[in-house]
Amino acid sequence: MELKLVFSIAFIFCLSHVSSTSHFFTSIFSLGDSYIDTGNFVIMATPVAPVWNDKPPYGMTFFGHPTGRVSDGRVIIDFIDIKNCFSRSLFIVGEFGVNDYNFMWMAGKAKHEVESYMPRVVKKITMGVERLINQGVVYVVVPGNPPTGCAPALLTQRVSPNRTDYDGHGCLRAINSVAKSHNTLLRAALGRLRRKYPHAKIIFADFYQPIIRVTQEPRRFGFAADGVLKACCGSGGVYNWNASATCAMPGVVACQNPSASVSWDGIHYTEAVYRYVAKGWLYGPYADPPILNAIRH
Ligand SMILES: *[C@@H]1O[C@H](CO)[C@@H](O)[C@H](O)[C@H]1NC(C)=O
Ligand SMILES: *[C@@H]1O[C@H](CO)[C@@H](O)[C@H](O)[C@H]1NC(C)=O
Repeated sequence: MELKLVFSIAFIFCLSHVSSTSHFFTSIFSLGDSYIDTGNFVIMATPVAPVWNDKPPYGMTFFGHPTGRVSDGRVIIDFIDIKNCFSRSLFIVGEFGVNDYNFMWMAGKAKHEVESYMPRVVKKITMGVERLINQGVVYVVVPGNPPTGCAPALLTQRVSPNRTDYDGHGCLRAINSVAKSHNTLLRAALGRLRRKYPHAKIIFADFYQPIIRVTQEPRRFGFAADGVLKACCGSGGVYNWNASATCAMPGVVACQNPSASVSWDGIHYTEAVYRYVAKGWLYGPYADPPILNAIRH
C-alpha cells in the first residue's frame, strides 16, 4: 500500500494578524493535511473529486463564508500568525499520519495491521524534517496525531458492542492507543534529529493531550458537556455523523453554537479547539519546547 502522507499542502506567507510570534518570524510554511489546510485542497480537488468544505456551513463562525478550511472558522496556523515578510521562517510539518491510519481503521483493519505501518509513517515524517533542515530550515514544528478514537466518524464506523473497547470518556481505546504510540515514536525520532542537528530548533507539538483535556473536562474549557463526542455539523445518529450525509452535503447543517463543540464535522475540530491548541503550542504546555521559548534561545 502506497503511503499517502501529503494530502494537501498549505503554504502561508506573510499573514497580517498580529500575534506573539510576529516580531520574530516573517513567514510560516505549513505542510500538512486537512487539519491545517487553509484552502489548497479545495482548489486542487475540485476539478477531480467532489468536495463539500467549499460550501456553507464551513466558515460560519469566522470569515462568514467557506474558505476551504475544514472547520467552522480558523485553523491552528491562523492563530500562529506572523507579520512582515523578512528572513526567518517557521516550518510546521504536519500533522501527518492521521489519513494513513484512518483509512485503515475505516476499512475495518485490526489494530496490529494499522500499527504495522507506524514505523514507516514516522520515518517518512522525520525524513521530510531532515530534508528541510538540510535545506537550511532552522525552526520546525512537528505536530503529533490527535486522539482520533474520540472522533465521531471513527466512533460511528468502528462501533463495538464490547464495552471494554471504550475508555472512561467513550473513546475507542485501540485507535487512541495507536495515535499515542505514533506520537511516542515520532517524539523519539525527533530527539535523535535534535542530537544530529543541534543548531536546529525542532519542536514537538502535542495534538493529543489538548483534545483529551477538553474531552475530559469540556465545561472547564467552555465546551458543552454533551458537545464532546458528537459532531457539530452532521445529520444525526449517536455521534451526529453519517458517512453518506456529512457536513455541507444537501440538508446537513451545523449546530447552533459551534464554539461549544469539540468536533466540527466528525473528523476535524472547531475553531474554538484550534485556538486552544495554538495557544498551547505557542506558550505551552502542549509543545516541547513551546514555540515562544524556542525562539528566545
Ligand atoms: C471484549 O474485549 C476484550 C478485550 O479486547 C476481550 O478480552 C473479550 O473477549 C471481548 N468480549 C467479547 C464478548 O467479545
Ligand atoms: C445516513 O444518511 C443517509 C442519506 O441521507 C440515509 O439514507 C441513512 O438513513 C442515514 N443513516 C443513518 C443511520 O441515519
